[in-house]
Amino acid sequence: MKLLVTGGAGFIGSNYVHHHLENHPDDQIVVLDKMTYAGRLENLEGLPEDRCSMVEADICDRETARQTVEGCDTIVNFAAESHVDRSIEAPGEFITTDVFGTYVLLEAARDAGIRHLQISTDEVYGSIEKGSFTESSPIDPSSPYSASKAGGDMIVSAFNHTYGADSLIVRASNNYGPNQHPEKLIPLVVLNALHGDPIPVYGNGLQVRNWLFVRDFCSAIDVVLEKGEAGQVYNVGGPDEKTNIEVVKTILEMAGQDESLITHVEDRLGHDLRYSLGSEKTKGLGWEAQVSFEEGIERTVNWYRDNPEWWGALRSGEYREYYEKQYGTKLG
Ligand code: NAD
Ligand code: DAU
Repeated sequence: MKLLVTGGAGFIGSNYVHHHLENHPDDQIVVLDKMTYAGRLENLEGLPEDRCSMVEADICDRETARQTVEGCDTIVNFAAESHVDRSIEAPGEFITTDVFGTYVLLEAARDAGIRHLQISTDEVYGSIEKGSFTESSPIDPSSPYSASKAGGDMIVSAFNHTYGADSLIVRASNNYGPNQHPEKLIPLVVLNALHGDPIPVYGNGLQVRNWLFVRDFCSAIDVVLEKGEAGQVYNVGGPDEKTNIEVVKTILEMAGQDESLITHVEDRLGHDLRYSLGSEKTKGLGWEAQVSFEEGIERTVNWYRDNPEWWGALRSGEYREYYEKQYGTKLG
């Protein structure tokens, strides 16, 4: 197989490229990535050059999408603006990439007659107080990010329904692990803890997320690609639910830091309280998460501790500006 992996230089996309090539020695991958602030060539280091190539481009560019898809058997679309806080500040790019970009890839896949797998999120279902979402739960997104992802999913469904497209959707809960940008909670807490910096906790910190180790998500994607049916949605939820404050305290303890670093700051606008994703349908294809939160968080903290060259440059560039704007006054 030859896969086109869009957004493959980001967090989950790059983990997926490594995972897939390790487990499919005869496959090839073309990565197409716009290299926004979230895309990093470092994430693709160590890949076999004869089986992996890179095209720097925007998924919204129809001509490049059409050309790049030639000779590929499948598109796996990770490309997106992915951070909720940035979507609250500036929603426009989210709608362009996550909705229009998805449409462009669907057209390219349809013209080439190939499978398209859309990587989506549990956030499209909104927040749930008790129980877990299933694939038939209604779509009820809360943020500009989740609304743009829901828009992408709706276009996928319309292509299935109208044109009989060979397209599927996987919706995952919160991923964590190596290569994740420090704008997201877990790497932000790990790096701040390692530096002895204050840890910004939104509101009371009692929001619940359903944590999934990134390599477990990668194995679910391969199972769905191989055994999933066109037109279907597959949920991939992590094995553990934790409040944000529990996550923060666990990391502080692992980093040998005091809880006095915890700084409660103004809450995120429209903050979803709890996500919980039932994955029975995906488990029915033979997938099961292998990594508990306890194991995954230890692997993650160790990875950040052991790879200062990965985050050193990041912390001083665009991210520093973003961080000052997002947290400067809040953290005093
Ligand atoms: P990320 O922000 O780390 O990476 C996104 C990648 O997409 C980057 O490499 C970026 O350069 C690229 N990109 C952005 N706009 C592009 C465009 N117009 N054209 C081409 N490339 C573009 O994101 P992530 O956390 O790895 O998430 C990947 C996918 O998984 C997204 O679709 C996201 O919605 C979904 N998802 C993420 C999580 C999570 O917890 N991180 C959970 C569920 C679903
Ligand atoms: O649920 C899947 C989603 O998970 C993905 O679709 C998104 O792409 C991904 O970014 C993630 O969204 P969240 O908003 O849940 O992740 P984030 O890491 O931004 O925040 C996790 C929780 O931690 C959330 O309740 C907000 C809180 N938080 C976050 C940051 C960055 C804080 O309390 N302080 C912070 O500084």
